[in-house]
Amino acid sequence: MARIPRELIDQIFTTARIEEVIGEFVQLKKSGSNLKGLSPFNNEKSPSFMVSPAKQIFKDFSSGKGGNVVTFLMELEQLSYPEALRWLANKYNIELPEERPMTPEEIEAGNLRESVFLITDVAAKWFKTQLHETQEGKAIGLSYFKERGFTDETMETFMLGYSPRNASAFAEYAIDKKYSEKALLESGISMQNERGWLDRFRGRVMFPIHSISGRVLGFGGRVLEKNAKAAKYLNSPENPIYHKSNVLYGLYQAKQEIVKLDEAYLVEGYTDVMSFHQNGVRNVVSSSGTALTEGQIGMLNRFTKNITLVYDGDAAGIRASFRGLDLMLAQGVNVRVVPFPEGEDPDSFAQSHSTEELKAYLAEQRQDFISYKTGVLLKEVGTDPLRRAEMVRDVVQSIAKVPNAIGQEIFIKEAARIMDLDANTLFGELARVQGQEARVAAKKQSEAPPMEVLPTEVDTPVRHKGWDQERDLIHLIVSKGDAPMMAEELDPEEARAITVAEWIVDEIEEDEITLSDPLFHEMYEMLVEEVDGEHIPNHTWWVRQENPNIVAVVTEALTEKYNLANWERKEIYLPNEVQMLIERVKETVLRVKYMYVERKLDDLREVLKAENVDYEAYMNDFKRWNDARAKLSELLNRAV
Ligand code: CTP
Ligand code: MN
Repeated sequence: MARIPRELIDQIFTTARIEEVIGEFVQLKKSGSNLKGLSPFNNEKSPSFMVSPAKQIFKDFSSGKGGNVVTFLMELEQLSYPEALRWLANKYNIELPEERPMTPEEIEAGNLRESVFLITDVAAKWFKTQLHETQEGKAIGLSYFKERGFTDETMETFMLGYSPRNASAFAEYAIDKKYSEKALLESGISMQNERGWLDRFRGRVMFPIHSISGRVLGFGGRVLEKNAKAAKYLNSPENPIYHKSNVLYGLYQAKQEIVKLDEAYLVEGYTDVMSFHQNGVRNVVSSSGTALTEGQIGMLNRFTKNITLVYDGDAAGIRASFRGLDLMLAQGVNVRVVPFPEGEDPDSFAQSHSTEELKAYLAEQRQDFISYKTGVLLKEVGTDPLRRAEMVRDVVQSIAKVPNAIGQEIFIKEAARIMDLDANTLFGELARVQGQEARVAAKKQSEAPPMEVLPTEVDTPVRHKGWDQERDLIHLIVSKGDAPMMAEELDPEEARAITVAEWIVDEIEEDEITLSDPLFHEMYEMLVEEVDGEHIPNHTWWVRQENPNIVAVVTEALTEKYNLANWERKEIYLPNEVQMLIERVKETVLRVKYMYVERKLDDLREVLKAENVDYEAYMNDFKRWNDARAKLSELLNRAV
């Protein structure tokens, strides 16, 4: 991809608001001068994900991840750096130089994921063109959608398309345009056999499946013939960008409305989503015919805690998803169910009723999941006492998943009413189930493997002696580099004459210290270059760096406990604070120097192990470093 010029990168950073961007993925609530929400990187119940509009950073205290608006997109949407910048430029209408097609070298360079994204996007646009602009597409695909009652606007919103009957029309187009054949294969849009290329979705209408931010990840394709032998729907295979269990069809189109109404409807199919949307119920998503996965629940959970299932009349679908619904209960989701009359599905109902009728039906028919489940089971078991007992346990097990006692009590009373039982019987059963679960959990814990299964970073660099001290120094540079290194009341004239950053550079350069950690070293060198150019970097400058590892260190610095107190306020330095800061800077620098000398002494000891040691030179060096250590030690004692 063409390089984005520095000025434009700056413009993107200045224009983009991290709280707005993250707000597209996570429901954020005000918390002091920060915003708080559920981590998009973890399934968590209580929010530990913070966004600071003032510092333009986020920090996920549950996973430890943190960074700026660009690294957020890179992490969550698996974008590359330039892709994330383009995403932002697009959102904020900043014009960037044209994107050029990737060269074979770039594809060779192993950027398969990116090229699968590219080919999938190209395919979505091509399918759409086929639907609207070709004879075959119009005669077959478009007339099909129109017959099913979909408007042009709905087709546009969901980016519907058509894949021609010709065996390899798309493959030929893509290869002719020089798109990567490898990516084409990998995407699953076309395949190869003895006779050559073959498109997967021949003669089907196409439903692109979008990511939360609107990138096309894959497709569902539907046959048109009523009683075709082929499967009604064909979907993209699992590939580097499409993971069936981690997408919700329609979420991209629904998310704003979900947040606005604080509720989501969950339906079974593509057409259910589209018909609801078209008929004015826009907070609707689909799990595409599969049982809900934990990943999908987590995605939805971040936008709302109120999820209403809208499934077909026969209840088989809901029956099959009872387990998944327990999972939702356990996550604190308020699960509700709207059953449809026999023979109707959400799509047909929405198509044959007015918006008012649809909304009224949803409002009147919805019941909480536990009452619904109790009712369904009650009908099934009839009067058989043994099966009735089994059913009571089943219902109580669901209630036990509800994470708060008040909710449990309400459900127990309601279930008791429906089953015509004494609530105390159910409370007794609940206590028994909870006891059992606690014992199982305790057993699991005691059988758990030792703690070494804690996630280990793959490429944890070697941490030399003094790593902690270097980190402290870097944190100071990032968070306080532009603060004055002299208190105004001590010397008003000189008050702003020197900053923490300049003072540190002077000290480190004077003694020719090098930092042992490569990343810290790199950051320090960046600082030196800026200071030499008479620019004192502040935390905003650091936050905007390209290297995500550096951004992670910066976020760490801006959110560590010591600086957390300042997290909420403007950087105004009172005289006593300046004094404290000066002492902290001086001590930190001394410690870095001390550890540097320690490493030098360690290196010297290694020298001794070699053959032919020049003892005189060794003794000279040793004495020099040892004296330095003693001096530093004395200064440190005085400093503390
Ligand atoms: N589905 C699938 N593969 C199939 C059948 C179904 O992936 N062979 C998924 C699709 O996402 C589909 C959903 O399951 O939308 C529900 O299936 P179904 O109720 O059979 O289809 P409808 O959505 O009702 O589709 P249509 O109205 O077009 O018949
Ligand atoms: Mn249907």
